[in-house]
Amino acid sequence: MSNQDKNQVETTGHSWDGIEEYNNPLPRWWLWTFYLTIIWGIGYTIAYPAWPLAKQATAGLLGYSTRAEVVEKIASFEEMNAAVEAELAAADVTEVAVGTDVHNYAINAGAAVFRANCSQCHGSGAAGNVGYPNLLDNDWLWGGTVDEIAYTIQHGVRNETDDSRYSEMPKFGADELLEDEQITQVVEHVLAISGQEHDAALAAEGAVVFEENCAACHGEDGTGDIYQGAPDLADAIWLYGGDRETITDSVYNARFGVMPAWGERLSQAEVNAAALYVHNLGGGE
Ligand code: HEC
Ligand code: HEC
Repeated sequence: MSNQDKNQVETTGHSWDGIEEYNNPLPRWWLWTFYLTIIWGIGYTIAYPAWPLAKQATAGLLGYSTRAEVVEKIASFEEMNAAVEAELAAADVTEVAVGTDVHNYAINAGAAVFRANCSQCHGSGAAGNVGYPNLLDNDWLWGGTVDEIAYTIQHGVRNETDDSRYSEMPKFGADELLEDEQITQVVEHVLAISGQEHDAALAAEGAVVFEENCAACHGEDGTGDIYQGAPDLADAIWLYGGDRETITDSVYNARFGVMPAWGERLSQAEVNAAALYVHNLGGGE
């Protein structure tokens, strides 16, 4: 057609400013490709799920389903992991050696458990938040060995379950256990032992208040006690805050951090995985 004289080609009769539109037929190869795609398209919708109906789409003659494929894949992964998962569930966490298959599996599984269940409180990088301890450092409220960590995760802290870790700091101000003056003094003492700017005279009085009211839990030197979950007050790491105002609030109203018992929500393998993961983050003892 290309060698046809342009003048012999029919026009559509349309004309714009003297420019006419030719009515060339479509190239044959193009037309056949076009018909083939239509046939292929119809065939596809018969073979595979395609047309939306009231409840679900037509299933297709080949019975293919993305959903079934996913279910199958998940099942095959679970089957692959069943052995190591069972081993992890039955394991004594103190005996899972670094570098073994079970340990590697636990670290990966633990990271996933952490993202899904723990990061909203402890932060996605486990660095904590006000009231939610940093799990990366080696400052532990309840102990940083892998079995202490596993126990804390399994039973939680100050929750309703029987085996929960538990302790309760008295509300020294709100319950009028100390005079405001004594609270002012003991706060200066806490500032002193944590190496902060303080009033030395008040702090000296505060040392006596501390000895009588606080040392039983926080220790004589204020370095804390993991058996009561009493924080170290002599370091620079604070759960709620180390400035004068926040310490005063901690002493006046006390604190009562709660963590759920994950043993009730997660499988034993997941709890163990989370414990090994947290222990492996760097602060584990
Ligand atoms: C609803 C918030 C919340 C969630 C979710 C949560 N925690 Fe906690 N967690 C806390 C609080 C609060 C504490 C501190 C309790 C205290 O004051 O003694 C804590 C303490 C801990 C401790 C003890 C830290 C120490 O210094 O001894 C570990 C370990 C821990 N959490 C791990 C986890 C893991 C693992 C998960 C996920 C399976 C998780 N937590 C989910 C709130 C949470
Ligand atoms: C019965 C034990 C107990 C006694 C007594 C006690 N505490 Fe505490 N204290 C705790 C516990 C447990 C926590 C942590 C609470 C939490 O994690 O929610 C805490 C938390 C604190 C905090 C917050 C620390 C931080 O990192 O933010 C301060 C400050 C504090 N105590 C000071 C004192 C002072 C001062 C006294 C004495 C007047 C005192 N405590 C007496 C158990 C005790």
